Amino acid sequence: MSADGFHAGPPPGARADWTIDQQWAAYTPAEHEVWLTLYERQAALLPGRACEPFLKGLEALDLHRSGIPEFARINRELERLTGWTVVAVPGLVPDEVFFEHLANRRFPAGRFIRRPDQLDYLQEPDVFHDVFGHVPMLADPVFADYMQAYGEGGLRAQGLGHLAHLARLYWYTVEFGLLQTARGLRIYGAGIVSSRAESVFALDDPSPNRLGFDLERVMRTPYRIDDFQQVYFVIPSLRALLDATLQDFGPLYARLSAADDLPIAAIAPTDRVFTRGTQAYARAAAAQ
Ligand SMILES: [Fe+2]
Repeated sequence: MSADGFHAGPPPGARADWTIDQQWAAYTPAEHEVWLTLYERQAALLPGRACEPFLKGLEALDLHRSGIPEFARINRELERLTGWTVVAVPGLVPDEVFFEHLANRRFPAGRFIRRPDQLDYLQEPDVFHDVFGHVPMLADPVFADYMQAYGEGGLRAQGLGHLAHLARLYWYTVEFGLLQTARGLRIYGAGIVSSRAESVFALDDPSPNRLGFDLERVMRTPYRIDDFQQVYFVIPSLRALLDATLQDFGPLYARLSAADDLPIAAIAPTDRVFTRGTQAYARAAAAQ
Protein backbone atom coordinates (compact mmCIF):
# COMPACT_ATOMS: atom_id res chain seq x y z
CA MET A 1 0.00 0.00 0.00
CA SER A 2 1.24 3.41 -0.78
CA ALA A 3 -0.06 6.90 -1.21
CA ASP A 4 1.12 10.21 -2.52
CA GLY A 5 1.34 13.43 -0.61
CA PHE A 6 3.72 12.61 2.21
CA HIS A 7 6.53 15.09 2.62
CA ALA A 8 7.04 15.27 6.34
CA GLY A 9 8.84 11.97 6.89
CA PRO A 10 7.72 9.10 9.09
CA PRO A 11 5.26 9.78 11.92
CA PRO A 12 6.44 9.85 15.55
CA GLY A 13 7.46 6.39 16.72
CA ALA A 14 8.22 5.06 13.22
CA ARG A 15 11.72 4.37 11.96
CA ALA A 16 13.29 6.23 9.03
CA ASP A 17 11.97 3.51 6.67
CA TRP A 18 8.48 3.98 8.20
CA THR A 19 8.45 0.59 9.90
CA ILE A 20 7.13 0.12 13.42
CA ASP A 21 6.98 -2.80 15.81
CA GLN A 22 3.92 -4.94 15.32
CA GLN A 23 3.38 -5.08 19.12
CA TRP A 24 1.58 -8.36 18.71
CA ALA A 25 1.02 -8.75 22.48
CA ALA A 26 -1.09 -5.58 22.42
CA TYR A 27 -3.87 -7.01 20.25
CA THR A 28 -7.08 -7.60 22.22
CA PRO A 29 -9.07 -10.86 22.21
CA ALA A 30 -11.78 -9.00 20.25
CA GLU A 31 -9.23 -8.07 17.57
CA HIS A 32 -8.02 -11.65 17.27
CA GLU A 33 -11.67 -12.67 16.99
CA VAL A 34 -12.15 -10.36 13.98
CA TRP A 35 -9.18 -12.06 12.28
CA LEU A 36 -10.55 -15.52 12.98
CA THR A 37 -14.00 -14.62 11.69
CA LEU A 38 -12.57 -13.19 8.47
CA TYR A 39 -10.09 -16.04 8.09
CA GLU A 40 -12.67 -18.76 8.53
CA ARG A 41 -15.14 -17.37 6.06
CA GLN A 42 -12.49 -16.81 3.38
CA ALA A 43 -10.84 -20.18 4.00
CA ALA A 44 -14.22 -21.84 3.45
CA LEU A 45 -14.92 -19.86 0.28
CA LEU A 46 -11.56 -19.93 -1.49
CA PRO A 47 -10.86 -23.57 -2.39
CA GLY A 48 -11.78 -23.83 -6.09
CA ARG A 49 -11.66 -20.02 -6.35
CA ALA A 50 -8.17 -18.96 -5.26
CA CYS A 51 -5.25 -20.27 -7.29
CA GLU A 52 -3.13 -23.15 -5.99
CA PRO A 53 -0.08 -21.02 -5.13
CA PHE A 54 -2.27 -18.87 -2.87
CA LEU A 55 -3.83 -21.84 -1.11
CA LYS A 56 -0.44 -23.47 -0.75
CA GLY A 57 1.06 -20.31 0.75
CA LEU A 58 -1.85 -19.94 3.13
CA GLU A 59 -1.25 -23.46 4.34
CA ALA A 60 2.53 -23.13 4.55
CA LEU A 61 2.41 -19.96 6.61
CA ASP A 62 -0.22 -21.17 9.06
CA LEU A 63 -2.05 -17.86 9.31
CA HIS A 64 -4.86 -19.27 11.37
CA ARG A 65 -3.56 -20.76 14.59
CA SER A 66 -3.48 -17.84 16.98
CA GLY A 67 -5.67 -15.09 15.55
CA ILE A 68 -3.79 -12.17 14.05
CA PRO A 69 -0.45 -13.72 13.07
CA GLU A 70 2.75 -12.56 14.69
CA PHE A 71 4.91 -11.24 11.84
CA ALA A 72 8.09 -12.61 13.43
CA ARG A 73 6.60 -16.12 13.29
CA ILE A 74 5.38 -15.81 9.67
CA ASN A 75 8.73 -14.38 8.67
CA ARG A 76 10.71 -17.40 9.79
CA GLU A 77 8.90 -19.58 7.26
CA LEU A 78 8.42 -16.94 4.57
CA GLU A 79 12.08 -15.99 4.62
CA ARG A 80 13.05 -19.63 4.32
CA LEU A 81 10.73 -20.11 1.33
CA THR A 82 11.42 -16.99 -0.75
CA GLY A 83 13.53 -14.53 1.21
CA TRP A 84 10.56 -12.20 1.83
CA THR A 85 9.58 -10.73 5.18
CA VAL A 86 6.57 -8.76 6.40
CA VAL A 87 7.23 -5.46 8.16
CA ALA A 88 4.67 -3.40 10.09
CA VAL A 89 3.91 0.18 9.02
CA PRO A 90 1.51 2.68 10.59
CA GLY A 91 -0.70 2.99 7.51
CA LEU A 92 -0.18 4.21 3.97
CA VAL A 93 3.45 5.04 3.24
CA PRO A 94 5.00 7.25 0.54
CA ASP A 95 5.49 5.60 -2.84
CA GLU A 96 9.28 5.59 -2.73
CA VAL A 97 9.25 4.00 0.73
CA PHE A 98 6.84 1.33 -0.48
CA PHE A 99 8.90 0.56 -3.60
CA GLU A 100 12.14 0.49 -1.62
CA HIS A 101 10.68 -2.14 0.71
CA LEU A 102 9.41 -4.28 -2.16
CA ALA A 103 12.70 -4.02 -4.02
CA ASN A 104 14.32 -5.47 -0.89
CA ARG A 105 11.74 -8.22 -0.45
CA ARG A 106 9.98 -6.62 2.48
CA PHE A 107 6.21 -6.32 2.38
CA PRO A 108 4.84 -3.36 4.37
CA ALA A 109 1.68 -4.37 6.22
CA GLY A 110 -0.75 -2.36 8.32
CA ARG A 111 -0.78 -3.33 11.98
CA PHE A 112 -4.38 -2.41 12.83
CA ILE A 113 -7.39 -4.60 12.17
CA ARG A 114 -10.85 -3.46 11.10
CA ARG A 115 -13.71 -3.23 13.59
CA PRO A 116 -16.34 -5.99 13.78
CA ASP A 117 -18.83 -3.72 11.95
CA GLN A 118 -16.39 -3.32 9.03
CA LEU A 119 -15.96 -6.98 8.08
CA ASP A 120 -17.09 -6.49 4.51
CA TYR A 121 -15.56 -3.21 3.50
CA LEU A 122 -12.76 -0.99 4.60
CA GLN A 123 -11.10 1.72 2.58
CA GLU A 124 -7.64 1.60 4.13
CA PRO A 125 -5.85 -1.75 4.02
CA ASP A 126 -5.65 -3.40 7.43
CA VAL A 127 -3.64 -6.38 8.63
CA PHE A 128 -6.21 -8.83 7.27
CA HIS A 129 -6.04 -7.43 3.75
CA ASP A 130 -2.27 -7.05 3.85
CA VAL A 131 -1.35 -10.36 5.45
CA PHE A 132 -4.13 -12.75 4.46
CA GLY A 133 -4.50 -11.14 1.04
CA HIS A 134 -0.90 -10.51 0.03
CA VAL A 135 1.45 -12.70 2.00
CA PRO A 136 0.45 -16.22 0.82
CA MET A 137 1.42 -15.32 -2.76
CA LEU A 138 4.82 -14.12 -1.52
CA ALA A 139 5.54 -17.73 -0.56
CA ASP A 140 5.53 -18.58 -4.29
CA PRO A 141 9.04 -18.18 -5.77
CA VAL A 142 7.88 -16.75 -9.11
CA PHE A 143 5.41 -14.30 -7.63
CA ALA A 144 8.03 -13.36 -5.04
CA ASP A 145 10.36 -12.33 -7.89
CA TYR A 146 7.54 -10.43 -9.60
CA MET A 147 6.88 -8.34 -6.49
CA GLN A 148 10.54 -7.48 -6.15
CA ALA A 149 10.69 -6.54 -9.85
CA TYR A 150 7.63 -4.36 -9.33
CA GLY A 151 9.35 -2.50 -6.50
CA GLU A 152 12.44 -1.93 -8.63
CA GLY A 153 10.21 -0.82 -11.51
CA GLY A 154 8.42 1.56 -9.16
CA LEU A 155 11.61 3.35 -8.26
CA ARG A 156 12.40 3.72 -11.97
CA ALA A 157 8.85 4.77 -12.92
CA GLN A 158 8.95 7.48 -10.32
CA GLY A 159 12.09 8.91 -11.91
CA LEU A 160 10.46 8.75 -15.34
CA GLY A 161 7.16 10.31 -14.27
CA HIS A 162 5.07 7.22 -15.06
CA LEU A 163 3.90 6.13 -11.63
CA ALA A 164 0.23 6.39 -12.60
CA HIS A 165 0.77 3.89 -15.40
CA LEU A 166 2.73 1.50 -13.21
CA ALA A 167 0.14 1.72 -10.43
CA ARG A 168 -2.40 0.23 -12.83
CA LEU A 169 -0.19 -2.80 -13.26
CA TYR A 170 -0.17 -3.32 -9.49
CA TRP A 171 -3.90 -2.81 -9.30
CA TYR A 172 -4.82 -5.25 -12.06
CA THR A 173 -2.34 -7.92 -11.01
CA VAL A 174 -1.29 -7.85 -7.35
CA GLU A 175 -4.67 -6.57 -6.16
CA PHE A 176 -7.24 -7.81 -8.68
CA GLY A 177 -5.53 -10.37 -10.87
CA LEU A 178 -7.03 -13.60 -12.19
CA LEU A 179 -5.07 -16.64 -13.36
CA GLN A 180 -6.03 -18.99 -16.16
CA THR A 181 -5.78 -22.67 -15.19
CA ALA A 182 -6.84 -25.98 -16.72
CA ARG A 183 -9.76 -25.99 -14.28
CA GLY A 184 -10.93 -22.48 -15.04
CA LEU A 185 -10.14 -18.99 -13.81
CA ARG A 186 -8.65 -18.65 -10.35
CA ILE A 187 -7.96 -15.63 -8.14
CA TYR A 188 -4.50 -14.47 -7.14
CA GLY A 189 -5.23 -10.78 -6.42
CA ALA A 190 -5.13 -9.74 -2.76
CA GLY A 191 -8.02 -7.31 -3.11
CA ILE A 192 -10.22 -10.17 -4.24
CA VAL A 193 -9.12 -12.98 -1.90
CA SER A 194 -9.47 -10.72 1.14
CA SER A 195 -13.07 -9.77 0.20
CA ARG A 196 -15.91 -12.23 0.58
CA ALA A 197 -18.17 -10.49 -1.91
CA GLU A 198 -15.54 -9.88 -4.57
CA SER A 199 -14.26 -13.48 -4.32
CA VAL A 200 -17.63 -14.44 -5.77
CA PHE A 201 -18.20 -11.44 -8.04
CA ALA A 202 -14.79 -11.58 -9.72
CA LEU A 203 -15.33 -15.15 -10.93
CA ASP A 204 -19.08 -15.64 -11.16
CA ASP A 205 -20.84 -12.37 -11.89
CA PRO A 206 -21.80 -11.73 -15.54
CA SER A 207 -21.22 -7.98 -15.15
CA PRO A 208 -17.44 -7.44 -15.43
CA ASN A 209 -15.25 -7.99 -18.47
CA ARG A 210 -12.56 -10.63 -18.06
CA LEU A 211 -9.79 -10.03 -20.57
CA GLY A 212 -6.39 -11.47 -21.36
CA PHE A 213 -3.52 -9.67 -19.65
CA ASP A 214 -1.43 -7.41 -21.81
CA LEU A 215 1.04 -5.09 -20.12
CA GLU A 216 0.47 -2.01 -22.28
CA ARG A 217 -3.28 -2.53 -22.39
CA VAL A 218 -3.45 -2.77 -18.59
CA MET A 219 -1.43 0.42 -18.19
CA ARG A 220 -3.95 2.27 -20.38
CA THR A 221 -6.90 1.14 -18.27
CA PRO A 222 -8.14 3.25 -15.34
CA TYR A 223 -9.51 1.46 -12.30
CA ARG A 224 -12.05 2.06 -9.58
CA ILE A 225 -11.15 2.03 -5.94
CA ASP A 226 -14.65 2.34 -4.51
CA ASP A 227 -16.54 -0.67 -5.83
CA PHE A 228 -16.18 -4.02 -7.62
CA GLN A 229 -13.96 -3.88 -10.68
CA GLN A 230 -15.52 -3.48 -14.13
CA VAL A 231 -12.70 -5.39 -15.74
CA TYR A 232 -10.36 -8.14 -14.56
CA PHE A 233 -7.23 -9.17 -16.44
CA VAL A 234 -6.31 -12.84 -16.74
CA ILE A 235 -2.68 -13.99 -16.81
CA PRO A 236 -1.79 -17.34 -18.41
CA SER A 237 0.76 -18.10 -15.67
CA LEU A 238 2.71 -16.39 -12.93
CA ARG A 239 5.82 -16.96 -15.01
CA ALA A 240 4.29 -15.06 -17.94
CA LEU A 241 3.51 -12.16 -15.61
CA LEU A 242 7.06 -12.08 -14.32
CA ASP A 243 8.50 -12.34 -17.82
CA ALA A 244 6.33 -9.46 -19.04
CA THR A 245 7.87 -7.20 -16.42
CA LEU A 246 11.48 -8.19 -17.01
CA GLN A 247 11.96 -5.71 -19.81
CA ASP A 248 12.91 -2.07 -20.06
CA PHE A 249 9.68 -0.12 -19.55
CA GLY A 250 11.23 3.01 -21.13
CA PRO A 251 9.90 2.40 -24.67
CA LEU A 252 6.57 1.31 -23.22
CA TYR A 253 6.25 4.53 -21.23
CA ALA A 254 7.14 6.52 -24.34
CA ARG A 255 4.26 4.86 -26.23
CA LEU A 256 1.92 5.41 -23.29
CA SER A 257 2.74 9.11 -23.24
CA ALA A 258 1.31 9.33 -26.73
CA ALA A 259 -1.71 7.05 -26.11
CA ASP A 260 -5.08 7.87 -24.59
CA ASP A 261 -6.52 5.90 -21.70
CA LEU A 262 -9.14 3.35 -22.68
CA PRO A 263 -12.65 3.63 -21.24
CA ILE A 264 -12.77 1.34 -18.21
CA ALA A 265 -15.34 -1.08 -19.65
CA ALA A 266 -14.15 -1.01 -23.25
CA ILE A 267 -13.18 -4.15 -25.13
CA ALA A 268 -10.56 -3.55 -27.81
CA PRO A 269 -10.42 -5.60 -31.04
CA THR A 270 -7.05 -6.98 -29.91
CA ASP A 271 -8.31 -8.12 -26.49
CA ARG A 272 -8.52 -11.79 -25.70
CA VAL A 273 -12.03 -12.04 -24.26
CA PHE A 274 -12.77 -14.55 -21.49
CA THR A 275 -16.03 -12.83 -20.55
CA ARG A 276 -17.80 -10.06 -22.41
CA GLY A 277 -19.37 -8.47 -19.34
CA THR A 278 -22.91 -7.10 -19.26
CA GLN A 279 -21.73 -4.21 -16.99
CA ALA A 280 -25.18 -4.53 -15.40
CA TYR A 281 -23.76 -4.23 -11.89
CA ALA A 282 -21.80 -1.07 -12.70
CA ARG A 283 -24.81 0.51 -14.44
CA ALA A 284 -27.10 -0.26 -11.52
CA ALA A 285 -24.54 1.11 -9.05
CA ALA A 286 -24.14 4.29 -11.11
CA ALA A 287 -27.92 4.79 -11.24
CA GLN A 288 -28.28 4.77 -7.47
FE1 LIG B 1 -3.31 -4.50 -1.09
